[in-house]
Amino acid sequence: MSVVALVGTQWGDEGKGKITDVLASQADVVVRYQGGNNAGHTVVVGEKTYKLHLVPSGILSADTMCIIGNGVVVDPQVLCSEIQSLNAWGISTSNLYVSERAHVIMPYHRVLDELEESRRVSKIGTTARGIGPAYVDKYMRMGIRMLDLKSPARLERALEQALAFKNPLLQKVYGHPGFDPAELLEEYLEYGRVLAPLITDTSLLLHEAREKGLNILLEGAQGTLLDIDHGTYPFVTSSNPTAGGAAPGAGLGPNQIDGVIGVVKAYTTRVGEGPFPTELRDATGDLIRERGREYGTTTGRPRRCGWFDAVMVRYAVRVNGLTGLAITLLDVLDALDEVKVCVAYEYRGERLEHFPADLEVLEECRPIYETLSGWKEEISAVRSFEELPEQAQAYLQFIAEQVGCPVQMVSVGPRRDQTIFLQPVMDTVQ
Ligand code: IMP
Repeated sequence: MSVVALVGTQWGDEGKGKITDVLASQADVVVRYQGGNNAGHTVVVGEKTYKLHLVPSGILSADTMCIIGNGVVVDPQVLCSEIQSLNAWGISTSNLYVSERAHVIMPYHRVLDELEESRRVSKIGTTARGIGPAYVDKYMRMGIRMLDLKSPARLERALEQALAFKNPLLQKVYGHPGFDPAELLEEYLEYGRVLAPLITDTSLLLHEAREKGLNILLEGAQGTLLDIDHGTYPFVTSSNPTAGGAAPGAGLGPNQIDGVIGVVKAYTTRVGEGPFPTELRDATGDLIRERGREYGTTTGRPRRCGWFDAVMVRYAVRVNGLTGLAITLLDVLDALDEVKVCVAYEYRGERLEHFPADLEVLEECRPIYETLSGWKEEISAVRSFEELPEQAQAYLQFIAEQVGCPVQMVSVGPRRDQTIFLQPVMDTVQ
């Protein structure tokens, strides 16, 4: 049995969906532990491309139990339509469960997300899915939880409490008409009726799975640099995607997690605003964007692209306690004559080895690069480390040394089979 957490090491979009999908074939249970439908996971199975936002990517592996944990904020409308699409594609959702403790994203959260963003002097570039406002209510202790959707009396009381705050705010500050409690009650009770069979004590399911010796994969959304504590605050999301968030967000004890795999792109991308030291605003950046199809799964926005930043990933190794790396999209770099890795930053004449907390410092950091030769060869058909061109092997080894963590997996294309295992992931972590 092993419990492995899978986290993004950069600004999200590292290809976690594909890696989760591959590892899900070795896992019996896959759990989402934070975030919501701000995430977008693209998974390619055979000829078909699936885009998932809320349901764990493990759903595409038959017989895998999928759990939306208590740390996730759930938009029931999105969950219902994702289940419908999956079923229409012939994928069963009978093994999908949602924590009764997970908080619900309400329409006023979505509206507030947009209105608050429009007021910000310095825009965060949120996905406008209501994620931040839903977490605000959770911590303000006026959130609505999934179990409330099953009880008309409790949902009515919870709505009354929430709208006593939300409607005056919407009306007086933002000039929005506000929400009618009766309409919301009717709509959300209906979601409760549809989703009732899925809503349960998922922490208990995980406990039972551990007792049976099953393999559990904890699937992080977003990435380390978007973490509310460890990310590039305030340009972050409102949860803890880092491995530390996995235990409370899934309902496990921290000592029950056996290994932490960091998913890392062979280069760097970022959506939304904020400093990005290795950003390439040139033809190489455009080439990476096109070859890597670097457009947001959730919003369709073009992603900002740049070289691999070892300072950032070194930091991710530290704050997540990573035990292994899964390097994705290595094939995107096939076309380049040379590849660069940022090994340190230069800040006002000083060499920085560690990622700074101060964004004004980060803003002024200039990357110090080591240049390696490119491999100029297509690697998407390669299935072992030894078959990779020498230069690609050297690139991977250089990254592992720089960040202080071994490479366990390499992805050379979007399909499940386009994956190289350097060491097994689920089986060896005991
Ligand atoms: P929010 O999570 O919608 O509040 O957005 C906060 C920040 O996180 C914005 O910069 C978003 O672009 C970013 N973000 C949220 N989810 C993802 C994701 O899954 N991938 C990449 N960026 C994300």
